[in-house]
Amino acid sequence: MKIITTPAEMQAAAQTLRREGKTIGFVPTMGFLHEGHLSLMRLARGRCDVLVASIFVNPTQFGPNEDLDAYPRDFDSDEALCRETGVDLLFYPTPETMYLEGHSIWVDEDSLSGMLCGAARPGHFRGVCTVVTKLLNIVLPDFMVLGEKDAQQLRVLRRMVRDLNIPVDIVSGPTVREADGLAMSSRNKHLSPEERAEAVCLFQGLEKAKSLFAAGERDAAVLKAAVREVIEKTSGTVDYIEIVDDESLQNFQPLETRHAGDVKPSLIALAVKFSGARLIDNAVLSK
Ligand code: PAJ
Repeated sequence: MKIITTPAEMQAAAQTLRREGKTIGFVPTMGFLHEGHLSLMRLARGRCDVLVASIFVNPTQFGPNEDLDAYPRDFDSDEALCRETGVDLLFYPTPETMYLEGHSIWVDEDSLSGMLCGAARPGHFRGVCTVVTKLLNIVLPDFMVLGEKDAQQLRVLRRMVRDLNIPVDIVSGPTVREADGLAMSSRNKHLSPEERAEAVCLFQGLEKAKSLFAAGERDAAVLKAAVREVIEKTSGTVDYIEIVDDESLQNFQPLETRHAGDVKPSLIALAVKFSGARLIDNAVLSK
């Protein structure tokens, strides 16, 4: 595995590989890798000649009061995990080389970014879209693998690639969970032992909504209240619980209209704040 630290060197390597006719698969990350990230790398590994992963804690997707400085980092462990998982090129740039002095171009998605995490984190998806555009221009992959854990990010980036005609396929991988159901996340590290035990409430809330939905419940308010009840038994506070159309991310009430003719799936998404970390999770509700 080769570690590349500058955009120019990474782009030159990618251009050479493309000229040689090699298929490039790409998994972008912010590091502090866990089994969720590694599952995406394995998924990519099976479909490409050259696997590129990136580790870059992108400053522009963090708000002024967010956890940029506290975001967990462990490059030595990440490097070993990438090596074991079959990464060929690990792109590990510095913020200074990614954002040159006077950087003034941004990619702003105008519709899907406003709700859910976008409402709570203004500017977040602008940072994500901008950095992913840059990474795609640097790594030149045939396909990029993203996790369903970040449901809104996945949908925003699919829209970006469609609307900007970016020549890359997006492949998604399922959410990898701890044994109790908690979605793996780099931020779980910041939970106290008590909070870690309580954090399974996101998964439990979603499971409850899914079983109510399977039993025929179509009132979004009832489903959301059921999730809230599970969360409120813990020390976590609800940032949002939303049920939205899976494609437009718009609220669509009542659900039964949407589902009457087996029309379109809904996405149930939530964010819960613990003192140590804000956690997100989601599930698709479909017949
Ligand atoms: P990061 O949070 O490190 O996540 C990198 C990728 O891993 C994302 O596609 C995310 O959805 C996926 N992922 C995270 N936890 C997962 C889990 N438990 N199961 C499966 N996949 C999981 O998302 C980002 O970084 C950044 O926003 C990035 C896209 C790299 C842009 O900076």
